[in-house]
Amino acid sequence: MGEQSPITVYILCFGPFLLGLLSTSSINIVTLRLVFHGMCCYSLVVIESMHRHGLWVTVGEPEEETVVIPDMPCGLEMKRGHLPSPWSLAGLVDFEGRAAKAEAEADGVVVNSFDELEAQFTEAYEKLMGKKAYNVGPLSLCEGGVQAERGNKSSIDKDKCLSWLDSHEPRSVVYVCFGTIAWLGLQKAMEIGEALKGSGRPVVWVIKPGETESWVSQFGEGLDWLVIVGWAPQVAILSHKAVGGFVTHCGWNSTLEGLCAGVPMVTWPHFAEQFINERLVVDVLKVGVRVGIEVQVRWEREMLVGREEIGLAVERVMGGGEEGEERRRRVREVGEMAKKAMEVGGSSYVNTTRLFEDVKGYVKKGNVVVENGL
Ligand SMILES: *[C@@H]1O[C@H](CO)[C@@H](O)[C@H](O)[C@H]1NC(C)=O
Ligand SMILES: *[C@@H]1O[C@H](CO)[C@@H](O)[C@H](O)[C@H]1NC(C)=O
Ligand SMILES: *[C@@H]1O[C@H](CO)[C@@H](O)[C@H](O)[C@H]1NC(C)=O
Repeated sequence: MGEQSPITVYILCFGPFLLGLLSTSSINIVTLRLVFHGMCCYSLVVIESMHRHGLWVTVGEPEEETVVIPDMPCGLEMKRGHLPSPWSLAGLVDFEGRAAKAEAEADGVVVNSFDELEAQFTEAYEKLMGKKAYNVGPLSLCEGGVQAERGNKSSIDKDKCLSWLDSHEPRSVVYVCFGTIAWLGLQKAMEIGEALKGSGRPVVWVIKPGETESWVSQFGEGLDWLVIVGWAPQVAILSHKAVGGFVTHCGWNSTLEGLCAGVPMVTWPHFAEQFINERLVVDVLKVGVRVGIEVQVRWEREMLVGREEIGLAVERVMGGGEEGEERRRRVREVGEMAKKAMEVGGSSYVNTTRLFEDVKGYVKKGNVVVENGL
């Protein structure tokens, strides 16, 4: 900055909904606006395409019907019931409109992903939006990828957890976690519990407090299981060599963390864009096996797959013969690519550098740039 008085650089990087709220107030001082969705480009293309072509499923429409997603490079077809519901169903029409407007006006999109994973979808998204998408992830690999905590404090001592894993054979443990929001009802817990018990494999199962925890804990007694109630040190668990498979709800953070760790997945989407992520994992990357969820969880219904289906999917991922070997090889490769992307000179490193340069460009032009964080 030389002799000039120091300039404070602020970057506005919000989820589109908050950006939408802001755009009505202090927006005249904002000149560089970046959106962060917490989704991958693959899902962003699908969702943007749904917006443009009116593919949202509304109440009463057949969920079984298949629709082609027009802007997908590889010609994706999806069941309508697997597409996320619009916010307007929850009466948030105005909110949604403002968010869409804010997104349309934004200068760029920051994505927790990396180029090698989804270059063609990143390109498709950029083309669709007419703006840059900066793939700066996987963010879970910051701090060398050994962070114990993400989002909240762990409910279990990380070392205790790791020493439990240390006492197990490589790739022998099934790790089960459905993320922050999904609710585990008793019936679902019982089906999962029986399937895991039937697999005869060691298990780490993460459940939320108040969530059938007494049933799960009792059921796990005498079995080679580690039941974690609350927040788990997920990145550390997935990165441990004892973990051989990940039963996941396909939220993007979890999916990406599984990919980084090179762990094949049993995909069990619940709602939002999780069914789209499942397609990326199973059909594009070919590193997962779907458990077979056909309908989204909504308030009034609990999705159901039986213990047999769960058991089969777990077996295919943990064992699975040659097909299983192939899947493990592929996901390890993805994990290696992820690490390279974050290294100096890697694609995410380059994208992050470019992002900073673009921000500096705005400052040079004399614009004031406003910062905030989600
Ligand atoms: C998702 O991951 C990012 C980066 O690691 C983190 O900042 C964010 O809090 C995570 N979200 C949730 C819901 O854990
Ligand atoms: C984080 O932990 C606090 C305290 O245990 C809890 O109230 C909060 O809901 C947790 N947040 C998430 C995202 O799980
Ligand atoms: C991100 O990096 C890739 C690979 O180096 C490059 O092709 C792409 O243009 C970069 N994206 C941006 C927005 O700079």
